[in-house]
Amino acid sequence: MFSKIIGTGGYLPEKVLSNHDLEKMVDTSHQWIVERTGIHQRHITEGQTTSELAEKAARQALEMANKTPDDIDLIIFATTTPDLVFPSSACLLQRRLGIKNGGAAFDIQAVCTGFVYALATADKFIRSGSSKCALVVGAETLSNIVDWSDRSTCILFGDGAGVVVLEATDEPGILSTHIHADGSYEDLLKVNAGISQDYQRLKEGEAFIQMKGNEVFKVAVNTLGRIVDETLAANNMQRDDIDWLVPHQANIRIINATAKKLKLPTENVVVTVDQHGNTSGASIPLALDTAVRDGRIKKGETLLLEGFGGGFTWGSALIRF
Ligand code: ACO
Repeated sequence: MFSKIIGTGGYLPEKVLSNHDLEKMVDTSHQWIVERTGIHQRHITEGQTTSELAEKAARQALEMANKTPDDIDLIIFATTTPDLVFPSSACLLQRRLGIKNGGAAFDIQAVCTGFVYALATADKFIRSGSSKCALVVGAETLSNIVDWSDRSTCILFGDGAGVVVLEATDEPGILSTHIHADGSYEDLLKVNAGISQDYQRLKEGEAFIQMKGNEVFKVAVNTLGRIVDETLAANNMQRDDIDWLVPHQANIRIINATAKKLKLPTENVVVTVDQHGNTSGASIPLALDTAVRDGRIKKGETLLLEGFGGGFTWGSALIRF
């Protein structure tokens, strides 16, 4: 038994925040942002919740998969910015879609690697026979936890949602998944308040992403290089067996370093960071959906998905699409 992606969907909020808009908010420039990150613009919600964004992406994915909401017996929702502390965003999405079949629904928190964690988990549910058809979601409203007066972080992030429908099949779809974490890096990348720690700060609206960007950058490049090797070795594959790299969209320089490691030409790398910014858990499924819908990624091709984020967490998935 294997699992296979049979539908993808994506949604971005209507409001676009360009680098030129940011120039009016903090001491920065379009040129600096493009040179250091590759980002030109990002989408920002105006009151839409994370599960609301996810619903729009999920309906698209279901349509492509030719499935109805009631076919879904598992929802795994990767997010760092849930609507509420509880119910989980997965349960809220289940209600939004009108699913009443009692299938499992839960959230996963692995920051920017969240979608890879969710995909790895859903794949294991399907391979074990516990589930037949899953929605795997990455959705975020990071704009709520961005300090819009901090130029070192506010230029990076955006909002959005990406979803895949994963179905049990006899032929291989997800070839392998690899997920890792090292919890010793909290001080390099975190949100500075939560429920049982510094709750007062959260209540006062002062809970923000804090990052030592330069140090995160170095660990990210090294770690993503290692996970490429691990994934290829586990599948007994060579670099030129990969048709597409679908990376987490944090920074074009990190993406290019991973592509270089794979010796992949830039035309075989899906890049959306220029238009979406870093949408954390949503960035990989949004990039995948973009390249599926514009016809670049075709059935039968081999895709390497990889991500790195807060925790630190990192992971990859090798996929026969
Ligand atoms: N505009 C203009 N200048 C700026 C800005 C800005 N927006 N931000 C910082 N600077 C300045 C700094 O103050 C510094 O000035 P100084 O030399 O006078 O001190 C200079 O630019 C260089 O700053 P660095 O932080 O060294 O810049 P760097 O080249 O490292 O780029 C960036 C910063 C883009 C954040 C990069 O480090 C990065 O992408 N890091 C990784 C991010 C990432 O992958 N995160 C993981 C996923 S996110 C998640 O999990 C939620």
